[in-house]
Amino acid sequence: SNSNLSHDDKLLQICQLLETNISYYNWVGFYFKNGDKNELKLGPYVGEPTDHTIIPFGKGICGQVAVSNENFVVPDVSAQDNYIACSITVKAEIVIPIFVNGENIGQIDIDSNTPDPFTEADERFLEFVCSKVSELL
Ligand code: SME
Repeated sequence: SNSNLSHDDKLLQICQLLETNISYYNWVGFYFKNGDKNELKLGPYVGEPTDHTIIPFGKGICGQVAVSNENFVVPDVSAQDNYIACSITVKAEIVIPIFVNGENIGQIDIDSNTPDPFTEADERFLEFVCSKVSELL
């Protein structure tokens, strides 16, 4: 049973499961809205440490999803002007919002070192993951 794990431990296990099993998922993490501040705060993640532990709403791919409430698939990060680089090895990114009672409360963020790897199947799968995450928050 995992019932004695904290929420953050469960989220970390999800990150580990995704990063380990899907070859083109190379950095997997959660960002959550930070109280009543207009910013995201980094939660559990696996992959290279990032300096971007706080991201203002509207900034970068993650900050844009905080305000759009929509999936954001980036096949080529070098073609994005509003992008926050965490690592020079990253080629592509996908961010899927997490909804609790219809409110966007955070997101899963995945970086890939493979160019243009994400399909609609990734979106549908990660929407499912996010719906399960919303049940354990
Ligand atoms: N690239 C993201 C920043 C977070 S790192 O990918 C971990 C962005 O543009 O919002």
